[in-house]
Amino acid sequence: METKVTTLNNPLILALDVSGKEAKKVLEELSLGIDIFKIGSRLFTEVGPDCVSWVNKRDKKVFLDLKFHDIPLTVSESCRNAARMGVWGFTMHASGGSAMMRQAADAVRDESERLGVSKPYLFAVTVLTSFSDGDLNETGVSGSALDQVQRLAILAKQCGMDGVVASGNEIEPIRKVCDENFLLVVPGIRFESDGKKDDQKRTISPKEAMRLGANYLVVGRPILNQKDRQSAAQKILQEIR
Ligand code: C5P
Repeated sequence: METKVTTLNNPLILALDVSGKEAKKVLEELSLGIDIFKIGSRLFTEVGPDCVSWVNKRDKKVFLDLKFHDIPLTVSESCRNAARMGVWGFTMHASGGSAMMRQAADAVRDESERLGVSKPYLFAVTVLTSFSDGDLNETGVSGSALDQVQRLAILAKQCGMDGVVASGNEIEPIRKVCDENFLLVVPGIRFESDGKKDDQKRTISPKEAMRLGANYLVVGRPILNQKDRQSAAQKILQEIR
């Protein structure tokens, strides 16, 4: 049984990279304009699985970004747990390899069918947007981040992932090697006019990322660090609609 969920109309994913107390406030403030909230390791290690319920209770979707990277059994069982939590999608590192990704994809399909629920999207993280070519080379991977992203995107697709997380600079090169149904999630979103990259190195503006064919944009600090988060979110939404 094919159990795919449909792509949502609103491509903006807000990263809840804040404390538990602040996350509740952000959910209250921004629930009108945003459909998907990203829960990463910071919030999850403070609050635990309850933060997934906070989002689900508001009829919003959870993008669980715990970036699994471990032996195939550990990852596939963690993926089963994520499927049981009722998340919209979640992440693992493509560099965890083909056996890990294949076993994870099988486990999620199996668990979703067993529960009779929609299968969450599986996204493989390629190369972190905080990495430059030099940062990547330091880890023993030669060549450019772009080459590595393309290589990992092909592998992720072959191993049953629904899409990848990559920077805006890699959207077109990925589209050349993976079909248009393969989902592209793009973090490292910054406005050129701000000139503020924080720890991100491979950045792109929201408008340009959408023009190049991103399916979803992940945004944290450009919204969270603004005094008026509502209008910061609206500004991005206006740019991409
Ligand atoms: O604050 P900022 O918009 O830079 O946050 C980007 C978010 O996207 C963070 O939560 C980070 O964990 C996530 N992310 C990323 N690069 C990836 C994958 C996820 O920045 N390759």
